[in-house]
Amino acid sequence: MQKILFVCLGNICRSPTAEGVMRSLVAAQGRQDEFFLDSAGTGDWHVGQAPDRRAQAACRRAGIDISSHRARRVRPEDFQKFDLILACDRENLRDLRAMMPEGSGARLAMLRDYSTETPGADVPDPYYGGDAGFDETVQICLQACEQLLRQCQEKNGD
Ligand code: 4NP
Repeated sequence: MQKILFVCLGNICRSPTAEGVMRSLVAAQGRQDEFFLDSAGTGDWHVGQAPDRRAQAACRRAGIDISSHRARRVRPEDFQKFDLILACDRENLRDLRAMMPEGSGARLAMLRDYSTETPGADVPDPYYGGDAGFDETVQICLQACEQLLRQCQEKNGD
């Protein structure tokens, strides 16, 4: 079982999109039993809220339903519970490093480190932009998560 947590700032745009995209890729391969996926935010402004309507719509255009997610903040126990915690941007990564309790088992990385073309790149924050930015977020997440899934499979030896 691979336990992966996707993290952004508000947990209403990028990280629920990344979680939804990964969930759909995993489901397409019938591998739901092999993954435990979740998302969270480093901030708490939107805790309890559904994903931003524009993120929901962009995901829906890609055939992905993220409407049931509710925003939550990263918790100290996440660093024990998850094997891999993937930050959407470098500010999220910096905040995660600051929150990580000593001796935690989780590995921290940037989501786009898994796109061979874009190691270290941010998933740009679409919150203050237009609808096109939300479609771009979906495409970025698809590209990164396809490669993430492939690497998880290689690690499992199949
Ligand atoms: P997210 O986007 O981090 O991708 O969920 C944002 C959501 C809310 C805010 C900023 C970014 N905000 O400032 O409230």
